[in-house]
Amino acid sequence: MSKNTEPAPVPVPGSYPMNGGDGTYSYTKNSYFQKAGVNAAKTTIHDAIVDKLDIKELFFSASTNNRTIFRIADLGCSVGPNTISTTEGILEVVQHKYQQSQQHLHFSSSKTLEFQVFFNDQVTNDFNTLFTSLPAERPYFAAGVPGSFHGRLFPNSSLHLVHSSYALQWLSKLPEELLDENSAAFNRGRIHYLNASDEVYKAYEAQFAKDMAKFLDARAKELVVGGLVVLTMPSVPDGVPCSRSLMCVLFHLLGSSLMDLAKEGLISEEQVDSFNIPVYAVSPNKMTELIEGNECFSIERMELTKPKSSNDYGQGFQVTGQALSMHLRAGMEVLVTKHFGTAIIDGLFDRLYKKIEELSDQIQPLIYEGGSQLILVLKRK
Ligand SMILES: C[S@@+](CC[C@H](N)C(=O)[O-])C[C@H]1O[C@@H](n2cnc3c(N)ncnc32)[C@H](O)[C@@H]1O
Repeated sequence: MSKNTEPAPVPVPGSYPMNGGDGTYSYTKNSYFQKAGVNAAKTTIHDAIVDKLDIKELFFSASTNNRTIFRIADLGCSVGPNTISTTEGILEVVQHKYQQSQQHLHFSSSKTLEFQVFFNDQVTNDFNTLFTSLPAERPYFAAGVPGSFHGRLFPNSSLHLVHSSYALQWLSKLPEELLDENSAAFNRGRIHYLNASDEVYKAYEAQFAKDMAKFLDARAKELVVGGLVVLTMPSVPDGVPCSRSLMCVLFHLLGSSLMDLAKEGLISEEQVDSFNIPVYAVSPNKMTELIEGNECFSIERMELTKPKSSNDYGQGFQVTGQALSMHLRAGMEVLVTKHFGTAIIDGLFDRLYKKIEELSDQIQPLIYEGGSQLILVLKRK
């Protein structure tokens, strides 16, 4: 190999990292939408932990009396401030509840609860940036756990709370029929399922169901009895068409921007036909069916929410066309580059931005439209 040859990127199946580092297009600087989602979910998560986490059962019952470590895992943590603020928020609620339980139970020993937080993501995640941004003085022991949450990540019965936000929508792989020209699910000229055939939608749904079954199987083994799973994920309410989902509309516009590039000869139509975004937004009914199919968890809370106002995004933040296109770029650039190369990236996202601006009147109402995210709290039976 000559000195100037770049090493080929290592392909990691099912891995679609967000843009790393903290530059202009990084996930760290462009995760306002996920942050708004997390903010909108905060009160529900806080209340669910207060109501549903049985500290007495976990720490003060006869069989667990010597336990003093509370283990939290954040699955699909990525980089940036969201994972840190959410896990620290959870930790504060648990700590408060633990101290209250000590007082109520007149627990005499000076047992102090220690926290261990596991930050999980695919091996391609920029863990270095994440570790650098962890506060130096932190009331928990931190560890990175690389690997897919569709498989086992932790020993049996070792976790007390699993959290995951805006990660479960990523499929472990693209359904093969989407790329098969002879299949009714071949997705010609599109990169996602809005305006596609029923077969395309069903292929996405079936892959999500397989992935969720694996996710729940693994977590059922890793959580202690009474442990909680807290999930926040993009959703489309039952009976609502995908055309009312901001996420689906943005993917659709990205697809149409790619088709524009194909018409100009900058890429080929075949390249667009063989590219699909492996992301699926589940409905509450479907999710209920999948959890009940697993049989190891009770559904303690299930709620459709949405960011209520621009306050959820952070002070002074405006949801502009530019912000939406940067948001999509931070999450999709690696995936798009892998397939189409780097040369088209600036032009592609510029085109996307212009399309969003042109359709601004139709897109703005979708930002605050009801039920764009699902919050779930499950308990290990
Ligand atoms: C949109 S980011 C969300 C990050 C963070 N939780 C937040 O709310 O800002 C989604 C993350 O999920 C990760 N992810 C997707 N599939 C995964 C899998 N199978 N196992 C672990 N992480 C995964 C991606 O690599 C990405 O970092």
